Amino acid sequence: LFLLLSATSIAKDFIEEEGDLDIKRSDFPDGFLFGASTSSYQIEGAYLEDGKGLSNWDVFSHIEGSIENGENGDIASDHYHRYMEDIEILHSLGVNAYRFSISWSRVLPRKFGGVNQAGVLFYNQIIDNLLLRGIEPFVTIHHSDYPQELEDRYGGWLSTLMQDDFVHFAETCFKSFGDRVKYWSSINEPNLFGILGFEIGICPPARCSPPFGNCPHGNSDIEPLIAVHNMLLAHAKAANLDHMKFKRKQGGMIGIILHAIMYKPLTEDKSDQEAADRALAFNIAWILDPVVFGDYPPEMRRYHGSELPRFSPDERVLLRDSIDFIGLNHYASLYAKDCINSRCICNDSSCIQGSDRAIRGFVCTTTEQDGVPIGEPTGMSLSFVVPRGMEEIVNYTKKRHHNKPMFVTENGYSSPYKSFEDYQHDVKRINYHKSYLAFLAQAMRDGADVRGYFIWSLMDDFEWINGYSLRYGLYHVDPRTLNRIPKLSANWYRDFLRNSNSLN
Ligand code: NOJ
Repeated sequence: LFLLLSATSIAKDFIEEEGDLDIKRSDFPDGFLFGASTSSYQIEGAYLEDGKGLSNWDVFSHIEGSIENGENGDIASDHYHRYMEDIEILHSLGVNAYRFSISWSRVLPRKFGGVNQAGVLFYNQIIDNLLLRGIEPFVTIHHSDYPQELEDRYGGWLSTLMQDDFVHFAETCFKSFGDRVKYWSSINEPNLFGILGFEIGICPPARCSPPFGNCPHGNSDIEPLIAVHNMLLAHAKAANLDHMKFKRKQGGMIGIILHAIMYKPLTEDKSDQEAADRALAFNIAWILDPVVFGDYPPEMRRYHGSELPRFSPDERVLLRDSIDFIGLNHYASLYAKDCINSRCICNDSSCIQGSDRAIRGFVCTTTEQDGVPIGEPTGMSLSFVVPRGMEEIVNYTKKRHHNKPMFVTENGYSSPYKSFEDYQHDVKRINYHKSYLAFLAQAMRDGADVRGYFIWSLMDDFEWINGYSLRYGLYHVDPRTLNRIPKLSANWYRDFLRNSNSLN
């Protein structure tokens, strides 16, 4: 009882905006998907087992200094060996969907080496066992990890050759699993992938140039644009494969998934309002305008000029309407300040540098307004709790992209604390989800066509350059035994999905 009472009072302190903590499953329509998300490299481990080839992340994480505490995903959450237990956990939570990704280097370990049947078997087991328990598989084809061989041969996403290799991988997935998978996402967060890998160079292939970073190779001003261009065309070609065209006619869906930060103007000045709009165009519409309308946002063309690659007329046709849904990974909001009309002074630590460059849309982003943080900090840098951002980002996409069906493919809370209790008694995580869900429900009442919500993450996992120091899981994974231990948030989600709420 003490725990529940203190949990409720912490909850009240925590929600600085009006979020309805009484949010219930019945506030969402029948058939709405409620699930949890993971990705292959982040949970599977078994990085060299049963014929798997080396991925870009296997190689990168073994380079000294790349990852916090020198960690890597060799074992990760050991999902490869414990997938049945994890499926039972999903079943016990009562979710009706599970989002996961396919490891490219597990299914196609070598460029010319054919399909690794052990890899196909692994994902078949997952899909079949999910379906047996009434859980819809929601499959991401490419979530950051791809065979290192493709990097070594021609430079991965900087090369047009990567488009064909991706299409071959997508076709292999469709042929192997498409008879049972209805929901496909082509690529996870191409917008963030472009920035982390090619602008600031902290993820593979770790390319960048000053002032964004000091990588041995790269050009931060144009390579993110080229890499994303190839990803967009790869997506469009995969979506137009005969198999997918047929499935789409039968109600199957393919989407693309965005890293969807909400940008708000720092001041009431018109120029800052325009800067926030530009930031959204340069981050969200960069990906969505091409796959909905067939071309890049006019705002980007205006500032990038000829640096921004062009689509041919045939490519525009291929791209237009090449998605059935938009996947939003929403965690955070930032303030935007104009750097065209007034040169931004961008030298404090809460400010993202490089704002006087076209690649940032001449926008400086910051987490503080007059010294007041935008929300409560989480464990992730630049990620603050701003529940209303959920409603705002959904409304932005609804308006700009004609209310295409949307799924919130990720939303999650990483604890800034490091004690065992905090991992287990994660009241802040519970209230994070309740308040974000409340604002999502509001957007839906106002007409947004949102069809599902996935918590990142089912369990603690390998969080890229942060290694295992950031934890988002509903389940804690004991680093020594790899046992899964439910946090309070897992119990809350289970209760929420049963439509009664233990904290209310
Ligand atoms: C989005 C990414 O898709 C996922 O891989 C990552 O771990 C989470 N954000 C948390 O940062």
